[in-house]
Order: sequence, then C-alpha cells, then structure tokens
Amino acid sequence: MCGIVGYIGNKNGVPVVLEGLSRLEYRGYDSAGISYKEDHELNVLKKEGKLENLEAIVNEKKVTSSSVIGHTRWATHGEVNDTNAHPHGNDDFSVVHNGIIENAFELKKELQAEGEVFHSQTDSEVFLVLLTKNFKSGLSVKDAVLKTFKALEGNSSFVVLPKAENNIYAIKRSAPLVCGKSDDDQELLASSDPYALIGFVDNIFFPGEETLCFLDSSNNRIDFFDLDGNPSENYKSDKSRKDLKVETKEGFDHFMLKEIYEQPKLINEIAKIYKSEYSDQISIKAQDLDTINIIGCGTAWHAGLCLRNIYETELQTKVNVELASEFRYREPFVSSKDLGLFISQSGETADTIACTELCEKLNLKLASILNVGGSTLNRLCHENFMIHAGQEIGVASTKAFTMQVIVGHFLMRLLQGKHPTADFEKELEVLKNRIQNILDDVSSIKKIANEVHTCKGYIFTGRNKYFPIALEGALKLKEIAYVHAEGYAAGELKHGPIALIDEEMVSICLVGPELFEKTLSNIEEIKARKGKILIVGPKDNSKLEEISDWYIPLDFSDLNYFSPIYVNVVMQLLSYYIAREKGTDIDKPRNLAKSVTVE
Ligand code: M6R
Repeated sequence: MCGIVGYIGNKNGVPVVLEGLSRLEYRGYDSAGISYKEDHELNVLKKEGKLENLEAIVNEKKVTSSSVIGHTRWATHGEVNDTNAHPHGNDDFSVVHNGIIENAFELKKELQAEGEVFHSQTDSEVFLVLLTKNFKSGLSVKDAVLKTFKALEGNSSFVVLPKAENNIYAIKRSAPLVCGKSDDDQELLASSDPYALIGFVDNIFFPGEETLCFLDSSNNRIDFFDLDGNPSENYKSDKSRKDLKVETKEGFDHFMLKEIYEQPKLINEIAKIYKSEYSDQISIKAQDLDTINIIGCGTAWHAGLCLRNIYETELQTKVNVELASEFRYREPFVSSKDLGLFISQSGETADTIACTELCEKLNLKLASILNVGGSTLNRLCHENFMIHAGQEIGVASTKAFTMQVIVGHFLMRLLQGKHPTADFEKELEVLKNRIQNILDDVSSIKKIANEVHTCKGYIFTGRNKYFPIALEGALKLKEIAYVHAEGYAAGELKHGPIALIDEEMVSICLVGPELFEKTLSNIEEIKARKGKILIVGPKDNSKLEEISDWYIPLDFSDLNYFSPIYVNVVMQLLSYYIAREKGTDIDKPRNLAKSVTVE
C-alpha cells in the first residue's frame, strides 16, 4: 500500500527518495509525490498515475534538495487525483501518511468549525491541519507532532518535514516505519519499508509502537521518544539488513515468473536452514494446546488451509483456520491454552496484525510463519518461523505460499517435539525435481493458456488437500488476469455452482491419487453438462485423457505431504500465461497492493 521515503543529509536527496519510491512501486499505488526544501521554503510536486509522471516534472524542474520526503499513495479516502496525492503541505509543514485516521471526519468538522480550510478529500490532511494549528499555538515542532498524533485514532505512520527546522520527524502506530543512518552518519532516512533503504544506510532502526523518530540532521543522529516526549529505548537496530540486495528480474519478463522459477532453489535450501537452526526444541508443545488457530489473509489463509488436515491428523489437536478480517470482529471462543499461528508474507497485513493483538490480549501463545524479519508481526509473536523466501516483489504471491506450506510442516514436527526436517528431506528432494521438470518445459501450459484465455470464466475444483489449491489457483488467476474465477471443493459443485457450467465455462479440475474415483465422478458431472475440462492429474491415465479437453499429467509417485505444492506450481504458471495472453500488468495488477496495511 502507501510507500514512504524521507531523506535529510549532506547530499542531494531527490534521487535517493525517487529510487526508494521506485523500489516501493511493487506494493501498489495510484499516485506519487515529493516535498523538498529549497531556499528554506517547502515545495510540493505530486502527480496521479505512475511514478514516471512525477519523475518527469522533477527532472524538468531540475530539483535538488538535501531535505526531501516522498510518497506513493494507494487511495483510501478520496479519489485518485493530483490534489489527493501526498505530500500534503502548507507554509509550515509537509506530511506523508500511511494508514487510516479513523476519527478524521469528526476532527475535520471541528477544525472547519474553527475556520480551518481543507484542500483535499483525504484523512491525511487532517493531520497536517491539526499539526499546524498546534504548532501555531506555540508548541515546538516535536511537541506539536506528538500532540497531534495523540489526537488521532487508527493505525498510521507519518513522516513530517517542517520548515522551521532542518530535521525530519517520523511516528507510527501499528503501521510500518523504519529509519536508518548512512555509514558516516551524514545521511538520515525514514521509510515504510527497509527495502527502500538498501544501499543508502548502514544501520536500520525499527521503532516500536507509538514511538517518535527524530532524524536530527544538525547532530547527525536519530533519537527516539515516547508519546510524552521522553527518550525511549523502544526500537531495535538491525545491521544485518546491510546485506539485503535490490531485486532485479534477472532476465525474466516479470518478477512473478522469476519468483516461480526460484522455488526449486528455495526448497533445496529451507531444509538445510531448519536443520541447523532448530537443533533445540521449541517452547510450544502440541500436547499442551487445546486448539491451534491459524490466521491469515488471501494466499496466506490458503497456506493455513493446506496445513489444517495434516495438523489434525498428526497432532491430534483441534485446528481452526480463520480469515483475519473475520476473526478480529468475532468474539472468538479461545483459551490461554490455544496457539495463535499467524501466516503472513509481509508481516504487516493490518487484519492479521489486529488478530495478533487480540490474541495477545486473550493470553494465547503467539507464533508466526513469516517472510519479512523486523516486521510488526515478527515483533508481536513469541516464536517466528521464517520461510526464507527472500524479497517477493510480484503482488501475486507464489514462492511465499510454497515456503509457508513447507515451513508449516516443519513446525508440525517441532510442535511434536521432533526434528523439524528429518521426515521431509527425501520428499522435498523429489518435490524440487518435479517442480524443476515442470519449469523446464512450459510449452503445454502456454498452449492451454492461449486456448482458454478468452473463455467466459473458470471454476477450479479439488478435493481434500487439493481444495485449498483450487482456491489459491482461482485467486491467482483473478488477481493477475482480471477474469472471473472461483475455487470450490469438488463435492460442492452440485450444491449450486454447477449451474454455471456450459460450453464457455472452463473447469480446472485438480485430481490427486487420493479420492481419485470420487473426484472423477465430479468431473463426469461437468462433462455431462458440456463444460470444458482441464485436468491436472496423475500421468498415464487414459480415463483422464479421454474425459478432458486438456490434460496436464503429473508424476505423483513418492509425493505425499507436498503434492499440493506440486499441483500449485502448475496453477501459478497457468495464471501467469493466461494473464500474458490478456496483456495485464502482471507484477502490479490493478487495484491491488502487495502489503495490505489498512483493513
Ligand atoms: O503479506 P501477507 O501474506 O499477510 O498478505 C496476505 C494477502 O494480502 C496476500 O496473500 C494476497 O492475497 C496476495 N496478493 C495473493 O497473491
């Protein structure tokens, strides 16, 4: 969602901020802007649409400045246009904002009644107007920022560039924010994502909740304060981020494709990592748990569904898999003997974070299956099981899903007090090779994509462990190809969705060796209604060949726990090639954000 980058230092910060914003493009946005100081005055340039629109005016004006803040906006309040784009500014301050001010409407009404004037439809401008009012009442910049922030409800981070000082202030509540210093301490940066700071800073700081970061350019230091203005130790520093690299497509047409192709390598590495990292047992034991509540959104929720059956069978524990956006507003019947297991690539998804906070209040044990270290989820959970998938740039999650399911299996063994990888190493080797075989020859998947991409709609079906893959396959296709796709349990078709079947509808039927006959009879029902059928199923099967319009044969031998991941790689490629046929923006699909930091 919204991206923030701020720079204050001894060099021209404009290229640094623009480069940072371009690295955050993957998160999704609809407009971009910067504010900079020139001759001690604040200036704002902002533009609807792609970052290149902003870059064009910045280049035309030949802007240079050593005090700059920038923003990519993903609209929440107010339509997408230049006025609603950030930064919002006046003579005294420029501000950028990530998140939602929940009491913006009430505050705006009060401020308007006092004669204050607003120019945009955004909630963010309320912060600017109130900040300016507080500052003009005689407070210092720091106290005005703190007082204003305390008046706001909701989860937000702000970066403030004041005219009165050569400093930057950044503050957060349950929204991503990091800051950092260059090697020589001369350049200080703030951002919503450490990825924007790679190469520009040596030391990265992760401020805790309700912490103010003061980027003090006169003294070349960053100080932290609590909401009462007292010095605070509520931050973590992380030198290891210095080794992060800026991702490139490495010859692939899209990041999504590159990330699909990375999977064999990641599978190869993950068992080694867990083998060496988890010689010790973990503090949480399955036998002490009443229930495992697995919570996530989108693809992460699907990964949770993949784990449910196997957890129940092997851990003999009750397992709930919950959508974070629903769980947070229920009054969940949980106990302090439950585990809250949160799955998230980014660790910043607002609904998942809210559930973690809720479970913390309810005294649950908290664990995560997570990709991004230093994220909010990472800090909230007692135990974090990292998936080591590397930066995932494509908005459509691919490699993260694969690694979430694998690490979920390692966690299952750890919960049993067993070695995390011993049972899985052989099968992971098979999985890696089978996926590599698919990746080595995608010609049949490309051909099918070419033949089906104009069809009316797509119904993905699967039974048991392939049902979550049907959901995931449909999600992937709709998000990147903008077509109607639904995922169903194969046995559910006749309870309603079968009404959709006709000659123009494609059913993508996922068939494993398990429950083969049952799944086949569901396919017969589709055939009887003249639906088009694409089967992804066991190889060398004449019945599957005969009943289908298209057949992608797979070798399921020696696969057990991880066969859903194998099938899912076919789904990833099929979505990708259908989207290519459609000519959509695959890495940055319309309306979507990589990290959903608002609810
Ligand atoms: O960062 P998270 O894993 O918490 O994100 C959850 C979902 O927003 C995410 O999986 C989303 O559904 C993806 N775009 C799916 O490809």
